[in-house]
Amino acid sequence: MEKIHVSASGSYDILIEDGILEKTGAYLKDIIKGRKAVLVTDDIVDGLYSGKVSKSLEEAGFQVLKFVIPNGEASKNAGNFIKLLEYAAENKVSRADVMVALGGGVVGDLTGFAAASFLRGIAFVQLPTTLLAAVDSSVGGKTAIDLVAGKNLVGAFYQPKLVLCDITTFNTLPEEIFADGMAEVIKYGAIVDKELWDWLKEPLGHDEIEKIVARCVSIKRDVVEKDEFDTGLRQILNFGHTIGHSIETLSNYTISHGKAVAIGMSLASAISVQNGFCKDALLVDEMNGMLTRHKLPINTEFDAVSLIEPIRSDKKGDGAGVNLILLEKIGQYIIKKVSFDDICDMLSKVIKERV
Ligand code: NAD
Ligand code: GLY
Repeated sequence: MEKIHVSASGSYDILIEDGILEKTGAYLKDIIKGRKAVLVTDDIVDGLYSGKVSKSLEEAGFQVLKFVIPNGEASKNAGNFIKLLEYAAENKVSRADVMVALGGGVVGDLTGFAAASFLRGIAFVQLPTTLLAAVDSSVGGKTAIDLVAGKNLVGAFYQPKLVLCDITTFNTLPEEIFADGMAEVIKYGAIVDKELWDWLKEPLGHDEIEKIVARCVSIKRDVVEKDEFDTGLRQILNFGHTIGHSIETLSNYTISHGKAVAIGMSLASAISVQNGFCKDALLVDEMNGMLTRHKLPINTEFDAVSLIEPIRSDKKGDGAGVNLILLEKIGQYIIKKVSFDDICDMLSKVIKERV
């Protein structure tokens, strides 16, 4: 078992162990005073893992109140947020009770925000079942829903009470959803951890994946502990995301978060070399080789003029430009404040080079 402790505005453990979902109740009964558990999941994960989580919670004396949303990004919306709050209220869930998020980042983000808001905050626990949720969204306390105007525009920083990660759940993940998570794993290697990067060049079996998840979670923990509220260092986790979010938005979310981030990392690497921030011209091949190896895309059909529009409304921008996270080399990030016009020029050059 791997155990990683996070000390932020809330402190909690992240436990990584095969079969740990079956011990959910045993872990929760020690940290939750109430005996109602609102189990939030999506329709796919419900059929796969709700049974064992519910059984474990019931055996520990919890009343399980299950709330199931359709799978997919479109469910991370204000309608489901309100429905979940109404469901908790109808069932007289109290401040002593708990919300349990079982699933990927969509379920985790929605549940976390509902828990942050209901009765001005009740406990919540993350049970991530995608690689992306395990290495990224279940850790660090960013919770959110999407608005029509854009992704993650409403949310809260709200830390879970516990994260239980059973990597055997990845066995049922479709290959391309596993690949989405690899984009975030590659991100951690690229920005701060050359050793992790090198691990990703080897075949990945169960033990390697467990080691990689633990390493990524530790990296994220270190960043979150220094900058929980995203006012400085935490922005390095945004490598590939500024351009990635733009691609997600322009594709109307038909391109997944992970794939959009992959394209964003490829373009950001090319920008790093082309503008002299990275002296090693081979960086782009290294990045593209790694992304391709893990079944991720590197090119976009969108041009620079289209890509810049969503970047202008990026919530991290200040009206004049945004901080771009670039690479000096693999394992070393660099932060550059760039105006929107300059980003547009940079993107235009690197995209033109590829046609
Ligand atoms: P997701 O939650 O939509 O899950 C992807 C698909 O996998 C869904 O269809 C789901 O039903 C299915 N699934 C989940 N677990 C499964 C399993 N074990 N076996 C089979 N199928 C399974 O997507 P995701 O990639 O996990 O998360 C993406 C979301 O996370 C986005 O909304 C993104 O904005 C958010 N995110 C949040 C943070 C954060 O810090 N809060 C960080 C990164 C991403
Ligand atoms: N996923 C980026 C962050 O948590 O800050």
